[in-house]
Amino acid sequence: MHIKRLGIVGCGLMGSGIAEISAKAGYDVVVVEVTEEFLKKGISRIEASTQKAVDKGKSTAEERAKALGRIKGSTNMDDLKGCQMVIEAVVEKMDEKKRVFGILDTICPPETILASNTSSLSITEIACSTKNPERVLGLHFFSPVPVMRLLEVIRSIMVRDDVVEAGVAFGAAVGKETVVCKDAPGFIVNQLYLPYSLVAIRQWERGLASKEDIDKAMTLGLNYPMGPFTLMDFVGLDIHYNACMAIYEETKDPAYFPPPVLKKMIQAGHLGRKTGKGFYDYPSK
Ligand code: 3HC
Repeated sequence: MHIKRLGIVGCGLMGSGIAEISAKAGYDVVVVEVTEEFLKKGISRIEASTQKAVDKGKSTAEERAKALGRIKGSTNMDDLKGCQMVIEAVVEKMDEKKRVFGILDTICPPETILASNTSSLSITEIACSTKNPERVLGLHFFSPVPVMRLLEVIRSIMVRDDVVEAGVAFGAAVGKETVVCKDAPGFIVNQLYLPYSLVAIRQWERGLASKEDIDKAMTLGLNYPMGPFTLMDFVGLDIHYNACMAIYEETKDPAYFPPPVLKKMIQAGHLGRKTGKGFYDYPSK
């Protein structure tokens, strides 16, 4: 399967990162957002990140200009018609994913591969909202997408082998190491990471140690680049909470049930770095 034109639905943190690495790898990218305002914000994020890559000596100004020239923004899903693969990166809600896949199923010809960047929802259930579930797979990227080296390729019980192979080949083409995983809640990484992060919150709540010391312990004791509180703030507490709840609802495993403080922080608008306050304060926002 030759992929030349790639579609992306959603130009948030993940969608913009996927658009960036794909354009850098030479794909023509069409990225669709719901409003011009969201699109503008997403494209600005790509401009800033590609500039950072130039500043850090990871690419040249010429490569940046070429990559940006390969990205077309749109607010019309019909513009995804000519894509050989479309990756959905919208909000982590099953109803919204199903709505998007329902539209993609009618717009894209049956040979187009459809992928979801979900971190926790069932690929099989998403695939069942289309008429050709065997062309649907999971491609789970990690944040920040241009920097993190892993891509989880998720196979539902219906997906065709050549679709999985195309997902693995796409990962290699955009410079990622891939792992192939069955469609099970949380896949590999989040099955390990989410319970760990919730244990950290419980340790802090029962006064085992300060959040600063828990972070310090994990960065210095295990060489993690960020401790759990810093990382939850980095990812966004709303995204973190939704991922935990999605897996909890599917499995009823209490290891994924978020401590109530997480919900309270979200209700208060303390979503982490993006709002200037989470477990820590980020005064510049
Ligand atoms: N484009 C290309 N390269 C970039 C870049 C960009 N926009 N921005 C930074 N880089 C490169 C830098 O040049 C540097 O490369 P080097 O190691 O070769 O010098 C490297 O990336 C690190 O960048 P920085 O020096 O600017 O930043 P830090 O050293 O402070 O690292 C971090 C920042 C990469 C975010 C690091 O703290 C980290 O790895 N944190 C953990 C992130 C993580 O765990 N993410 C997963 C979240 S979970 C998730 O996404 C799953 C979801 O389902 C919830």
